[in-house]
Amino acid sequence: MAFDLPCILYFFFLLFPSSLVAQRNGNVTIMEKGGILSSRLSETNFSQGRFQFRLIQDGNAVLNTNNLPTGFAYEAYFWSNTVDSNSSNAGYQVVFNESGYLYVLRASNKREVLTPGRVVPATENYHRATLHFDGVFVLYSHPKNSPGNESWSVVRTMPVNICTAVRGLKGTGPCGFNGVCTISTDQRAICSCPQRFSLLDPDDPYGGCKPDFPTQVCAEDVLNAPEDYELVQLTNIDWPESDYEMYTPYNIEDYITTSKALQITPADSLQKAGCS
Ligand SMILES: *[C@@H]1O[C@H](CO)[C@@H](O)[C@H](O)[C@H]1NC(C)=O
Ligand SMILES: *[C@@H]1O[C@H](CO)[C@@H](O)[C@H](O)[C@H]1NC(C)=O
Ligand SMILES: *[C@@H]1O[C@H](CO)[C@@H](O)[C@H](O)[C@H]1NC(C)=O
Ligand SMILES: *[C@@H]1O[C@H](CO)[C@@H](O)[C@H](O)[C@H]1NC(C)=O
Ligand SMILES: *[C@@H]1O[C@H](CO)[C@@H](O)[C@H](O)[C@H]1NC(C)=O
Repeated sequence: MAFDLPCILYFFFLLFPSSLVAQRNGNVTIMEKGGILSSRLSETNFSQGRFQFRLIQDGNAVLNTNNLPTGFAYEAYFWSNTVDSNSSNAGYQVVFNESGYLYVLRASNKREVLTPGRVVPATENYHRATLHFDGVFVLYSHPKNSPGNESWSVVRTMPVNICTAVRGLKGTGPCGFNGVCTISTDQRAICSCPQRFSLLDPDDPYGGCKPDFPTQVCAEDVLNAPEDYELVQLTNIDWPESDYEMYTPYNIEDYITTSKALQITPADSLQKAGCS
C-alpha cells in the first residue's frame, strides 16, 4: 500500500469527492454549516444511500436517515449537542484533526469532540473516516510504518450501536423493513430475516425482508383467517415507534388471545422490527 499525499486529504477526496472543504494543514475542515455527506447505497453501489452526516443551521452535527427519492432528512440517531441560541456558542464547522478526532468547532473556538475514545498518535498513524452504507460513521487508523498489509483498525464508531440508535419513527434502519439487526464486534450492522421471511432483494442483505406467507384477511372461513396463523415469539426485537398497544403486566397466553382478537398479524408486528 502506498500513501503519498497527506493521508487525511487523500482519503477524504477519495471517499467523499464532492462535499468537502479541505485545508492542507493537518486539520481538515470537513464541513461547514449546511454541509451534507451521504453514505453510499451498498458496499458496491455508490448511489446516494439512506444515511447522512450533516451540520445543520442550528449548529448541531447529526447523523440521520433520509427519504431516498427526495433526500428529505428524517430524525437524527446521533448528534453533537452543539445547538445554541447564542450564535457565537453554536457549532459552525466539523473538523477532522491530525489525531483522527472529529470535533465540532463552536464560533467561540471551543471544541466539542464528537465521540471520545483512545488517542492514536498522528505521527505514527494514518487516519480516515467513512460513513458506511449501514449508517455507522467509523474512524480508522493504520500504522505508517506497517511492514505487512494488515487492514485499517477501527478506533471508534458513531453511534456505538446502530441497531438500537435508529428508532425508525420514519423510514428504516440499516436492515430495511422487516429486517432484524444484530451488532457485529466491530460495531457494524449484520442483517437477517425473521423465520418465514426472506430477502426482498436476494442480492441485498440490507434491503429488508418480505413475508413468505400471504397477508392475513380479517374474515371467518377464508384461507388466510387468523386461525391459520401462528404467533412466534422473538427475543430482543422491538418495534419502538408507532406501537399499536401496550399491555403491562400481561402474560403471553393472554397476549396471544388478545392479538388474535385484535387481528395483529406476524407481518404487522414485525413491520419495523429491524434496527428499531
Ligand atoms: C491543528 O489544530 C490544533 C488545534 O487548533 C493546532 O494546535 C495545530 O497546530 C493544528 N495543526 C496544524 C498542522 O496546523
Ligand atoms: C445502484 O442503485 C440504484 C438505485 O437502486 C440503481 O438505480 C442503480 O442501477 C444501481 N447501480 C449499480 C451499479 O448497481
Ligand atoms: C454569547 O456568547 C458569547 C461567548 O460565550 C458571550 O460573550 C456573549 O455574551 C453571549 N451573548 C449573549 C447575548 O448571551
Ligand atoms: C485532536 O483533537 C483532540 C480532541 O480535541 C485532542 O485531544 C488532540 O490533541 C487533537 N490533536 C491535535 C494534533 O491537535
Ligand atoms: C498480506 O496479504 C496476503 C494475501 O491476503 C496474506 O497471504 C499475507 O499473509 C499478508 N501479509 C501480512 C504480513 O499480513
